Amino acid sequence: MIPYHYILNAWYVAGFSDEFGTNELKGHKICEKPIVTWRTEQGNVVAFDNRCRHKRMPLSEGRIMPDGTLECAYHGLCYNSSGRCVAVPAHPNGNIPSQLQLSAYPIREQDGLVWIWPGDPEKAEEVTPHPTPELSSSTWESIHSEPMEVRANYLLLIENLMDITHFYPLHDGNIGDIGNSRIPIQLEEGQAHGTNYVKTTRETSNYRQPPFLEDWFVYDVVDREHTHCMTSPGLTRVEMRVAPPGRIKEKDAVRGYTLFHAHTPIDDRHHLWRWAVNCKADHMSKGDPDVSATKRVAQMFPTVVAQDLWALEKQQEMFDFDDEGYFEVFLKPDKALRRIRQLFSRAQQQEQVALQQKRGAKLRLKSVN
Ligand code: FES
Ligand SMILES: [Fe+2]
Repeated sequence: MIPYHYILNAWYVAGFSDEFGTNELKGHKICEKPIVTWRTEQGNVVAFDNRCRHKRMPLSEGRIMPDGTLECAYHGLCYNSSGRCVAVPAHPNGNIPSQLQLSAYPIREQDGLVWIWPGDPEKAEEVTPHPTPELSSSTWESIHSEPMEVRANYLLLIENLMDITHFYPLHDGNIGDIGNSRIPIQLEEGQAHGTNYVKTTRETSNYRQPPFLEDWFVYDVVDREHTHCMTSPGLTRVEMRVAPPGRIKEKDAVRGYTLFHAHTPIDDRHHLWRWAVNCKADHMSKGDPDVSATKRVAQMFPTVVAQDLWALEKQQEMFDFDDEGYFEVFLKPDKALRRIRQLFSRAQQQEQVALQQKRGAKLRLKSVN
């Protein structure tokens, strides 16, 4: 049994900006919705239902014509960048029915990311995608992944990211630092950019960094702030700031990274995971002063990600069994996870109720007619 579904009314990452070439059609499945996107000659990304209004052919299988319209691969209906059908080859002189209009999805491009809102379009205005300035600033170096399909509900990834107590044993041999897991958590939650966030902070002083952190961030003993923040259902931000003891408030002494993890549901058992590693552009590693800190972190990242991915898919497989007599136990360091699950179930319940009310209203309308 899968207790989790997904939240529809949220901004989700459809891709890094560089995934959207001009006039390149891309087919997506986000929250079980088929979506087609392309970047127009004018530079903006547009998003529509991927089903041709004629006979459901996926429009992402079509092509962009020299005049900028999208030509369906089946019977050649052409749609402009507002989703309006502007040509029907089989009857070039006939009227084009007004129903030949594609449903549009709210879409925003911001700080190097393209975001889509798969839920109720009216609610999209109330929320802003979380800022990610490190991805597009020249003072930061940013390296990002390709999109990776994970055979697991996206909440399992969010929980994984918010929980560093799995670093040992899952990441033993690379980032498996058990000392880190034992630092107590401060939990914070609130609202920012129109959405709920949950954040944990681990602060420590005079901490001897394990060799991999010393390699990335130069210092051997540090004061450290380590935060993990589920900024929204679509994005988790991780920040590590280290400085020699007593100097964490000195901007120039601080080293560290910002990580972004975008988790976009495909359906309730699959999601796309994208990550980005960001360090200050002029920070070089200790292990090789010719190689930047960002590159050193990004070298290790795929191994760590592969270990997480393995665990997430194994966890997901266990949801196929009946829960009869089984329940999960939350431990003390799991308090952020418990809070996130509560937020998710509340949001999903609210969406279910709203959906049922909408369906009920439609049914009533039908019976009146
Ligand atoms: S299905 Fe697209 S034109 Fe017929
Ligand atoms: Fe991990």
